[in-house]
Amino acid sequence: MKRIAVMTSGGDSPGMNAAIRGVTRAAISRGVEVIGFYSGYSGIHNNEFIEMKSTTVGGIITHGGTILRTARCKEMRTPEGRERVVQVLRDHKIQGLVIIGGDGSITGGEVLRAEFDFPVIGVPSSIDNDIYGSDYSIGFDTAVNTALDATDKIRDTAYSHDRVFVVEVMGRNNGFIALNVAVAAGAEAVIIPEAGHSIDIICKNLTQAREKGKASSLIIVAEGAATAYDMSQEIGKKTGFETRFIVLGHTQRGGSPTAFDRILALTLSVAATERLISGHAGEIVGIEGSKLVYHPINDIVTYKKEISPFLLNLVGKMSI
Ligand code: F6P
Repeated sequence: MKRIAVMTSGGDSPGMNAAIRGVTRAAISRGVEVIGFYSGYSGIHNNEFIEMKSTTVGGIITHGGTILRTARCKEMRTPEGRERVVQVLRDHKIQGLVIIGGDGSITGGEVLRAEFDFPVIGVPSSIDNDIYGSDYSIGFDTAVNTALDATDKIRDTAYSHDRVFVVEVMGRNNGFIALNVAVAAGAEAVIIPEAGHSIDIICKNLTQAREKGKASSLIIVAEGAATAYDMSQEIGKKTGFETRFIVLGHTQRGGSPTAFDRILALTLSVAATERLISGHAGEIVGIEGSKLVYHPINDIVTYKKEISPFLLNLVGKMSI
């Protein structure tokens, strides 16, 4: 390959810039030119691009967000839209595309490969960490640490006022962020879409804890399971305790990436670029344990990433 493209797509996540840097410099060091398209598939569709040089990615490793912007593209949902995307790529003599994004963005690329035989490779990037084929996706660690920092602060004020606080974290369809924050913050309960919950049992546990002298409590809820507002209202009514809630929202999507996310982003993006250049396509690059792995993109549709039952049990065990 002599010329490849890179883009970021879907919800942004801290570490995307480090991944753009990884792709750009790995390709240039192999004598391959790189074009960056703005705003994901929309930018390809609208032919909005930048020639990436080594200097284009200078100093961005520390920055959250993405210098290439990102979007969720409706054009990819139509055959004409996809045809246009591939046409623009071919007009630029692009021979392969690195997609830095979540499951929807990466499976969108697989459609381009299946329909037009256009080589794509995926770099898992999402704060949700819900992409099969990699223990971690880029941005998850930073999002967890951002949410944890806020939750630790909430713990202070919850304690001072003897209150029950419900903290809502992101996770549209899954509870990876919620579970890690709950364990690390020492929360009394966690509510996630993957596991059922009983408000009566939560209230019973809170009441028993209060009887034993624990006057404040933290409950972490994933946005995909319930709203913090509803939970706090219901708990307040059932227990008579003073409750408050907070929605951490998009704060979790921003900020300087942690060291873990930077290293992960560079590792996955460089591996993906080298793999694409050497003729592999239709894969998603991941890490499992300490190993780099390459799964067919279709695996992320076929298989579901599971939460850790061990961590889930840990929350209950530690909240006695
Ligand atoms: O997929 C990442 C994510 O941050 C989810 O956790 C959240 O539900 C969603 O994106 C929010 O999307 P938007 O930025 O479009 O509101």
